[in-house]
Amino acid sequence: MEQGVANIVWHPTKVERGTRVAITRVRPAVLWLTGLSGSGKSSVAMALEEVLVGRGYGAYVLDGDNVRHGLNKNLGFSPGDRVENIRRVGEVGKLFVEAGFLTISSFISPYRADREAVRALLGEGEFLEVYVDAPLAVCEGRDPKGLYKKARAAAAGQGLAFTGIDAPYEAPERPEIHLHTERQDVPACVGEIVSFLERGGYLVGDKCKVQNAKS
Ligand code: ADX
Repeated sequence: MEQGVANIVWHPTKVERGTRVAITRVRPAVLWLTGLSGSGKSSVAMALEEVLVGRGYGAYVLDGDNVRHGLNKNLGFSPGDRVENIRRVGEVGKLFVEAGFLTISSFISPYRADREAVRALLGEGEFLEVYVDAPLAVCEGRDPKGLYKKARAAAAGQGLAFTGIDAPYEAPERPEIHLHTERQDVPACVGEIVSFLERGGYLVGDKCKVQNAKS
């Protein structure tokens, strides 16, 4: 049951956004990677994090499989649980943005409305949707976890409600970045995202000035 915020007091921070980003050296935002299972989201997310942190930027991955081991381990794959999964990680992403980080969120996030709800939680330019696009047949051919095989076998019976097989995926209509992993390898995908971040002024770098980065 939804709890209200009656009798709950908001405590404002004494730390300005600029003070935080002087440490993380980024313009904080959520990079929201969405796509089918096996499309390459986790591989791109982890490689991107490695590159960004290696260059001294504050970046952190929130990954669907990992978050489902902890914070969201009480959630399954019913439509309602998927909505709650994305609602929670959207809120976590917002906290990471407030903490000054570039957050790389990697979730199937099959429902457009849920992704747009996360966008609405964040400020202008703080939600960057990255469509990690690969045809279902390509994802199914990769099947790194053997889950498509299981889903096909189960679909005839009760079904697993597996995304792309017997559960829907609503592709982004206007993603900020559109990757095609059937023809772009992981370094190419990472390069495209890093270029976007550089062009957009998300990588503040050594010239970061505290007073220029106030929220
Ligand atoms: S989401 O739909 O709620 O956004 P999330 O990204 O957290 O999904 O988790 C997806 C991962 O869970 C997949 O990569 C896959 O490994 C695993 N998984 C297990 N069951 C399912 C299912 N029924 N549909 C999709 N993914 C599943």
